Amino acid sequence: MDFFDVVARRYCHKAAFDPTREVPAEHLRRLVEVGMAAPSAGNGQAPEFVIVNDPEILARVKETIDNVPLKTAPAWIVIAIDPARGCYLEDYAVATAHVLLAATALGYCCGWVDGPFLDDAVRGPASEILGLPDDRRLMVAVPVGFPGEEGPRRPKKPFEQRASWNRYAVERTG
Ligand SMILES: Cc1cc2nc3c(=O)[nH]c(=O)nc-3n(C[C@H](O)[C@H](O)[C@H](O)COP(=O)(O)O)c2cc1C
Repeated sequence: MDFFDVVARRYCHKAAFDPTREVPAEHLRRLVEVGMAAPSAGNGQAPEFVIVNDPEILARVKETIDNVPLKTAPAWIVIAIDPARGCYLEDYAVATAHVLLAATALGYCCGWVDGPFLDDAVRGPASEILGLPDDRRLMVAVPVGFPGEEGPRRPKKPFEQRASWNRYAVERTG
């Protein structure tokens, strides 16, 4: 798929996945390799990845969270990082974006779920099940798979409302 088609097709799937349609391990590995190729501050390559596709571990970690995409996805890619590092938010975010685009390029749908993990009561048990050390923070779980039900595509604002040439002349709407 052409890169620009990938960008146009990518969306965050917030509805159910089809739990019966698995993602081959070699594809999950490729997604992570693309995440690892992302830029990082000082080339520190700080984001770390846990591919979760073992049915038993997946079932246990799913119990920690009340989120439809994560509950139904056949695989997660979890991104963790040392939060004491400078630029850790930027580093994890750009790695996540790479993973989402790679998943789309391979024909999967995916999502970005970090909100529930802001709650220690969710992040703690999930991190424990996944064996994360104390100095690593679970930042996001990316569910990967095929849609079980259709999810909405969210329109993007027109160019002029977000960009301009040479000087700021964005048509502000809010
Ligand atoms: C920093 C960040 C945090 C996000 N956290 C969540 C989340 O916790 N749960 C969720 O369903 N989507 C989350 N999203 C996905 C956004 O809701 C989604 O990207 C946005 O609505 C635009 O839709 P699109 O990705 O389909 O274009 C997050 C996205 C970003 C960049």
